[in-house]
Amino acid sequence: MQSLIVSGGKKLQGEVPLQGAKNSALPIMAAAYLCEGECILHNCPKLTDIYAASRILNYIGKKCCFSGNTVIISRENCGGSCRNCIPENYTQEMRSSIIFLGALLGKHKSCVMSYPGGCELGPRPIDMHLTGLRKMGVDIREEHGHIICNVPKCIHGAKISLNFPSVGTTENIMIAAVLAEGETIINNAAREPEICDLADFLRSCGAKIKGDGESRIIIQGVEKLCGCEYTIMPDRIAGATYLAAVAGTGGEIVLQNACISHIEPFLSYLEQTGCSIYTPDNDKIFLRSGAKLKAIKNCVRTMPHPGFPTDAQAILMAALAKSDGVTVFEENIFGCRYRHIDALMKLGADIRTSGKTAVINGVPQLYGATVEATDLRSGAAMVIAALMAEGDSEITEICHIDRGYEDIEFYFQKLGADIKRV
Ligand code: EPU
Repeated sequence: MQSLIVSGGKKLQGEVPLQGAKNSALPIMAAAYLCEGECILHNCPKLTDIYAASRILNYIGKKCCFSGNTVIISRENCGGSCRNCIPENYTQEMRSSIIFLGALLGKHKSCVMSYPGGCELGPRPIDMHLTGLRKMGVDIREEHGHIICNVPKCIHGAKISLNFPSVGTTENIMIAAVLAEGETIINNAAREPEICDLADFLRSCGAKIKGDGESRIIIQGVEKLCGCEYTIMPDRIAGATYLAAVAGTGGEIVLQNACISHIEPFLSYLEQTGCSIYTPDNDKIFLRSGAKLKAIKNCVRTMPHPGFPTDAQAILMAALAKSDGVTVFEENIFGCRYRHIDALMKLGADIRTSGKTAVINGVPQLYGATVEATDLRSGAAMVIAALMAEGDSEITEICHIDRGYEDIEFYFQKLGADIKRV
């Protein structure tokens, strides 16, 4: 079992390039299952979740190879091994494996998939995914932890109105709809940048999609999708993590390969902490932190895009642990996303929670401790707090961090941090 050992208290300074977005690469890899030709995906981050998605693709019949940050998804291994089912050991490996449902149905018109189950963020219902697919003509039964799907006639277009702009549901319906008969309209669709990246990829393969990035997405089914060469967008949450760490430690950073408009909802809050932020080019963010961060006056409410992202909540909270006052957070997306707080308090932070509200009162100093990463972003928040703390910290269970951050210790070392993996 691996840990990160951090000797904190140094100002971070330097330049880092941003990795490709995990939450974009995963649905794009699933969508590539529908393509008849080869898909070459550049800027794919080397992460355990991406390897898990590639194992699923290999299992269900594609050949998926890595060459650095390029993934090549090619011809079917069809010598009898093209499958329409995903067993439990694969779905448990990656909680977001549900994203393969739309792709399996688009290709096979029937599939069996083991239920992804709950996750570190609490129960992860898939009711909206299933309701949407049912409207498109899929018969779905849930039996003994399995989702059993059949399409008696054809997958057809439908008008689907989501109760909540769920990212995964929007992606699954988009993937199922690109080869469906007729037109699909998704109302109250998620507007996250990852949705636009998936739509751009699908369009490069010949799909007809309009309205991505807005609340109403319209997909006109086509007969087939070809392959394409595509570059995955930069990871806005990894970007937020490096910016927050530098802000919290009082340093300076140039973040390269970023997309400023994607990260803007986070930057606008970080700016309120007194950091100077310049965006001289479209893909570069320069941040210089003040001596002490200011607390944020307005409540930081997590909301669907373009609101403040839930994935950056723990990260910003950690950066504010030594701020000069009180900041209030409200978590509105997931019911169980304050699992970093016990660890931050062990490092000396002053945080109180009540339901979906957390109140952080800045303290003069944090002190090194041993803490356990409980999920991906909680782990990142612990790394940030450990970098801000006086003395040595150990972060255990870093398998969670490796799901979303490529070589996290390498990039922090590039910024001058004293951090190593043992
Ligand atoms: N929800 C339902 N029913 C559904 C689907 C979702 O009740 O059928 C609820 C969820 O339980 C949650 C809310 O709706 O409370 C939002 O869930 P959403 O479907 O939008 O999230 P997701 O697709 O499961 C993706 C990211 C998450 C990110 C969220 C929100 C991927 C692989 N995951 O999850 O990323 O937090 O959108 O932006 O894209 C992470 O990277 O650390 C991470 C958790």
